[in-house]
Amino acid sequence: MTLLKEPDHGTPEREGPATVTVEVDGLPVVVPEGTSVLRAASQAGVSIPKLCATDSLEAFGSCRLCVVEIDGRRGTPASCTTPVTDGMRVSTETPRLQRLRRGVMELYISDHPLDCLTCSANGDCELQDMAGAVGLRQVRYGYEGKNHLDAPKDTSNPYFDFDASKCIACSRCVRACDEVQGTFALTIAGRGFESTVSPGAGGSFMESECVSCGSCVQACPTATLQEKSVVQLGLPSRTVITTCAYCGVGCSFKAELRGNELVRMVPYKDGGANEGHSCVKGRFAFGYAGHPDRKLEPMVRDTIDEQWRVVSWDEAIGTVARRMLDIQRRHGAGAIGAISSSRCTNEEVFVVQKMVRAAFGNNNVDTCARVCHSPTGYGLKQTFGESAGTQDFKSVAQADVIMVIGANPTDGHPVFASRMKRRLREGAKLIVVDPRRIDLVRSPHIEAAYHLPVRPGTNVAVVNAMAHVAVTEGLVDRTFALERCEDFDGWAEFIAGAEHSPEAVEAITGVPAADLRGAARLYATAANGAIYYGLGVTEHSQGSTMVMGMANLAMACGNIGRDGVGVNPLRGQNNVQGSCDMGSFPHELPGYRHVSDQAVRGVFEKLWGRDIEPEPGLRIPNMFDAAIGGSFHGLFVHGEDIAQSDPNLRHVSAALHAMELVVVQDLFLNETAKFAHVFLPGASFLEKDGTFTNAERRINRVRAVMPPRTGKHEWQIICEIATAMGYPMGYDHPSQIMAEIASVTPTFAGVSFELLDKLGSVQWPCNENAPAGTPVMHIGEFVRGKGRFVRTEYVPTEERTTRRFPLVLTTGRILSQYNVGAQTRRTGNVAWHPEDLLEVHPHDAEDRGITDGDLVTLTSRVGETTLHARVSDRMPVGVVYTTFHHPVTGANVVTTEHSDWATNCPEYKVTAVQIALTRPIHV
Ligand code: SF4
Ligand code: SF4
Ligand code: SF4
Ligand code: FES
Repeated sequence: MTLLKEPDHGTPEREGPATVTVEVDGLPVVVPEGTSVLRAASQAGVSIPKLCATDSLEAFGSCRLCVVEIDGRRGTPASCTTPVTDGMRVSTETPRLQRLRRGVMELYISDHPLDCLTCSANGDCELQDMAGAVGLRQVRYGYEGKNHLDAPKDTSNPYFDFDASKCIACSRCVRACDEVQGTFALTIAGRGFESTVSPGAGGSFMESECVSCGSCVQACPTATLQEKSVVQLGLPSRTVITTCAYCGVGCSFKAELRGNELVRMVPYKDGGANEGHSCVKGRFAFGYAGHPDRKLEPMVRDTIDEQWRVVSWDEAIGTVARRMLDIQRRHGAGAIGAISSSRCTNEEVFVVQKMVRAAFGNNNVDTCARVCHSPTGYGLKQTFGESAGTQDFKSVAQADVIMVIGANPTDGHPVFASRMKRRLREGAKLIVVDPRRIDLVRSPHIEAAYHLPVRPGTNVAVVNAMAHVAVTEGLVDRTFALERCEDFDGWAEFIAGAEHSPEAVEAITGVPAADLRGAARLYATAANGAIYYGLGVTEHSQGSTMVMGMANLAMACGNIGRDGVGVNPLRGQNNVQGSCDMGSFPHELPGYRHVSDQAVRGVFEKLWGRDIEPEPGLRIPNMFDAAIGGSFHGLFVHGEDIAQSDPNLRHVSAALHAMELVVVQDLFLNETAKFAHVFLPGASFLEKDGTFTNAERRINRVRAVMPPRTGKHEWQIICEIATAMGYPMGYDHPSQIMAEIASVTPTFAGVSFELLDKLGSVQWPCNENAPAGTPVMHIGEFVRGKGRFVRTEYVPTEERTTRRFPLVLTTGRILSQYNVGAQTRRTGNVAWHPEDLLEVHPHDAEDRGITDGDLVTLTSRVGETTLHARVSDRMPVGVVYTTFHHPVTGANVVTTEHSDWATNCPEYKVTAVQIALTRPIHV
């Protein structure tokens, strides 16, 4: 499409049943009560000039360009700050108003460089547009007096410039940073003529608290804040609407291109997940798609000691098929398998598991969700009957108490964090359960009511103690628990046991009993209590137990089945939800239906014309064990770097070494490719057509901004491998794959590309009962009928600290980098996080003679690595923390093979370690 300019109604939409009728320039319009005159006029089709107003921000009323006359009122009020009243009659274009506006514009222009013809925003500048709109023809004031034309330019940010000479002090940037992003990095310093936008305490953007979300750039009506890419490439001329491929928030973007070159990504206002906001990764970190490291041709080699040989697609696909079949002939059908990726589209994931089940003839397919959110699938299915979060993101705006457990939304899910912070600034109370004092605990205008610094590995004891308080203090919603759920009384008796009291578990969890009681009371007595959680819940030996523990607590307090409540996983990768939905687990067909269910198998067998194995296949760790044990020989790895992201990397390496054939499909020659015999180049999200499903079950369209640089779509490659193995698979377009998914998956029955193009996105279940999707689940009835209380005994992890390994290592992410960093390390984001650091409490550091910046050796029972220390009292004593974004650190060299009892999700969050000074180098 040509460049899409979304309408700007000037002030935010007001919601509510009450409406008023007003007349603007003789045109009647009905709007919700509380709507501004500016917005009402816009909705009536009357465009009032404006500069300081935009509909993503509350009205400010500083520019005085939007003045109007209102019958029966004196003066010329600003229409952006004036709410409509019933029967109001507004005039927007009288001679007096026109004169006033020209006067205002004259003042602005007299202090603005007149370099429009060479300005990077020429054609996309509201100041320029308004000069035209008000009919400005002359500027009577010269440049002789004081002006800002020589104001310095700040180019410190890798992605955008700040040219103060063009600033009109409208403060849209400041308000965007406050209201939309919630970082409060900008101020207008000085008064009157001296007013100027100032990042932080007056330094550069890079020295300030700015997190580079770009909201201020988007809000700026002039070229003052401008993307560097626009300065370099020029303004874009066409738009493709697509979805971010980084995290599980699933932000919608307008990819804006000039010719075939991507100029910028602009968050899409109609995006259901993000509503026009984004983070630094989605908006700016797309350069990896064109990075010279990308491999664009298929390659093969006989052994991993040989050099790669570039081959044709036919030869590469033929090699995979021939060698896979050869392995099966010699070792049996079960000797090969595949790992699908949560980075890929639903359509790609679907064809991978179809290839395994129909062409490989086994169920040896697993997904990287195994190592992150598999306990979510298990725990929520057991309790609620559906393996997915209960709410849409919008729901948080109705929450009164928000409990964040084992998640760090400001780094991991930044756009959702901005929504959450907005609600917290409005007065909702916050409980943070996390060993680390994450930013959310105290940030501008936000302070958690409780921070429970849980000792890693003891989550279940904490959630049980909260439920104990709710039950024993009579704070439960008995009506809900008895009418909507089953086994409440039995569970209540279990949880009321003295061993679950906060006082009894204080020594285990490290959480003061009084705080735990206080937090439990706060959550249980909230009108609407909402739980959001992340990998700090799931990546434990009791990950599944903890998910069920949270579900128990929510059900006991009646916090399920309406807006503002729920139990919500913050999914890591962009399509974790989708890859699980699509049948990527070895025991489940699409739609979370067990392979042992003959009726379900029958549906697929009829459609695919092949028998499906009734027994679950191998999980990822089982594949590794079987490879080392000599019964598993061939693996197709689709878009995942298991040699960097999986635990106990020595074991992973040994397993990959032992295999006869490792096929890697990826953008780059990643760590896993070091063990590969065939490399199939993948397509970046900018080259893909399909869908992603985000953490709120929202199915978003991914649209190709450019054709695949490799010459082939990934779904096409999978189909060609299956076909070469003797099982013909082929589609003309990914919409046909979605049609097949819909035909065999009841929760997707109503989903089609046409519907998505019409509605923008839908949240599954989407079928005849819910043709427009399901924002909030379990309303009136749980998916499984009655919610099920499950007894969640706390069982300590086998990973124990000892004198040799006295500290606990826990891991996480940082905002600017993503996962193993394959993408973000190849973008300007390296400016923020050039290496993984080890956070250590000052006492633990001092005990070992470690100071900030020292190089330290981190040793666990399975391995060791070195990294620089950051001494920080964000950590509790006895716990250290690092990220895993850089392969050079190889943080997973030290993580162990302990895993969740139900799903084998690795226990990344608890590793007993020791640290020691290596040599004192300061970063
Ligand atoms: S980029 Fe985002 S965080 Fe930085 S100043 Fe602008 S709005 Fe604030
Ligand atoms: S930088 Fe842009 S948005 Fe901010 S005050 Fe200046 S003109 Fe307004
Ligand atoms: S919050 Fe997540 S989905 Fe949204 S722009 Fe950032 S990385 Fe992309
Ligand atoms: S737009 Fe209303 S005062 Fe600026």
